[in-house]
Amino acid sequence: MTAYLLDWVNLLGRWVHMITGIAWIGASFYFIWLDNSLETPKSAADSEKGVSGEVWSVHGGGMYHAQKYRLAPATMPEHLHWFKWEAYTTWITGMFMLALMYWYGAEIYLIDPGVAELSKTAAIAIGIAVIVVGWFAYDKLCESDISKNETTMAAILFVTLTLIAFGLCQLFSGRGAYMHFGAMLGTIMVGNVFFVIIPGQKDLVRAKEEGREPDPIHGIRGKQRSVHNTYFTLPVLFVMISNHYAMTYGHKYNWLILIVITLIGALIRIYFVARHKGKASLTPIIAAFILLAGLVAVVAPQQSDRLSVKLSGAVDIDSIHKIVTERCSSCHANTPTQPGFQAAPKGIVFETPEDITRQATIIHQQTVVTKAMPIGNLTAMTDEERASIDAWFVQLK
Ligand code: HEC
Repeated sequence: MTAYLLDWVNLLGRWVHMITGIAWIGASFYFIWLDNSLETPKSAADSEKGVSGEVWSVHGGGMYHAQKYRLAPATMPEHLHWFKWEAYTTWITGMFMLALMYWYGAEIYLIDPGVAELSKTAAIAIGIAVIVVGWFAYDKLCESDISKNETTMAAILFVTLTLIAFGLCQLFSGRGAYMHFGAMLGTIMVGNVFFVIIPGQKDLVRAKEEGREPDPIHGIRGKQRSVHNTYFTLPVLFVMISNHYAMTYGHKYNWLILIVITLIGALIRIYFVARHKGKASLTPIIAAFILLAGLVAVVAPQQSDRLSVKLSGAVDIDSIHKIVTERCSSCHANTPTQPGFQAAPKGIVFETPEDITRQATIIHQQTVVTKAMPIGNLTAMTDEERASIDAWFVQLK
């Protein structure tokens, strides 16, 4: 019953996370587009009112005319809409999912004894530390003079993120490492909203009410942080779907794949931001596609990845059935016996020899090519068993 209810908690947490995430990133993309598409106001009266830019658009059967003020209008509007709860709710539900799946279920999703023999407590502590320290270090860096030079700042961020990706992949299961990398970046994005952007906006409103000049530092800081946020967006979204792709997180060089995809995501976003401004160079998007093509080629399964284990006997469906029953069927059965599993994960069941032969390709993919299964190697599958599956699979073809 507990496992069943937890499945519902998981479903609802994920659903809300997705909905608020879409609302947040959707609004954020829209405002980046808006800000970069502004034109000088046509009417002199608008300019005098303090309007610095405007844009006309059509959507959902209506025409919209958005205007941006240099600072604020002469009199504050009665209702001023703030965009913040989308970001906060995304973070809260995201942390909830992280805690539920990767911390509460650390033995399954976070720890891989083949990578590092961590205790559950140590693994969770490292996970939390990466997220907390990640935010504080990033925030300090942004406040230092170093951040004034954008190229230096980008280079430092890139090198640090590479080191973090590498470090996490030496400690956690591939998917656990990826998810903590994404959670750290996502936390930085929400931290930027909560600690920098929103307080800056509040000061702007307060200054207006008190009739004083707002401190320009808030504008500069807010701009810097929202630029970072926009480049972090695509990498974070990749991480959120990455657990479907064991070819990435399950690869020997998973950290490198993660950082290359992060770079590709940032380059694609750079291109789109420039496009909104109407002067996009194709270089970033071409670079992104070259990297992507390189990645596809390099990640392709190699013959040399074959396990060099001597097999003691012949492999036939009976021996494979025995291995799969022992190593997989505690979870992948109609009625799983593994605690915490209410139903076969992804509906994939291996009970009869026919189940196994029919699903040979995915079994081979998960146990030999990516070694993503058994998840967290909970059932302690040996290399010899993986090699047997490999040999059996080659015979089948
Ligand atoms: C401890 C439980 C557990 C064991 C043991 C286990 N699996 Fe899984 N398996 C899972 C979970 C959980 C998922 C879903 C992962 C996800 O959420 O993406 C899964 C997913 C899969 C998938 C689908 C992957 C995809 O992304 O489409 C395959 C194939 C698979 N397992 C094969 C195996 C094989 C083969 C074995 C035995 C060598 C095995 N599993 C052992 C828990 C387990």
